[in-house]
Amino acid sequence: MSEKRINPDKRALSVGEVARRSGIRVSTVHYYDTQRLISSWRNQGNQRRFSRDVLRRIALIKIAQSAGIPLDDIRQALSVLPHHRAPDRQDWEALSRQWQSVLEEKIADLTLLKDQMNDCIGCGCLSLELCPLRNPGDIEAER
Ligand code: FES
Repeated sequence: MSEKRINPDKRALSVGEVARRSGIRVSTVHYYDTQRLISSWRNQGNQRRFSRDVLRRIALIKIAQSAGIPLDDIRQALSVLPHHRAPDRQDWEALSRQWQSVLEEKIADLTLLKDQMNDCIGCGCLSLELCPLRNPGDIEAER
């Protein structure tokens, strides 16, 4: 969420500059701000401003999103980074290690789904009793 303060940083970026330099829409910049993934402040003219390190934060957010990391997890991971500087190489290594287990779980889930789909090819029954895609983990049997 935005913080109301005056920042003397003349190198601060407008929301349009952040969007253009990050390759995302202005509305996405606002969304990240309201979701507390990035932060901004208002200048004396009541215009929203961002420090330059927000560009690296957005890059990390986009990479994590493309890997399927939920925004809540991204927010949690970014919240432990220092706010006074851009994430550096060590920060990125720590984040990527943290997200590797999430990615490995997703890969295992997708591999299982792919194997189950292979078993179903040519069947088409979609039976609640027999089909692992329709009834994963045999939930119906437990009922
Ligand atoms: S479609 Fe028949 S077992 Fe899945």
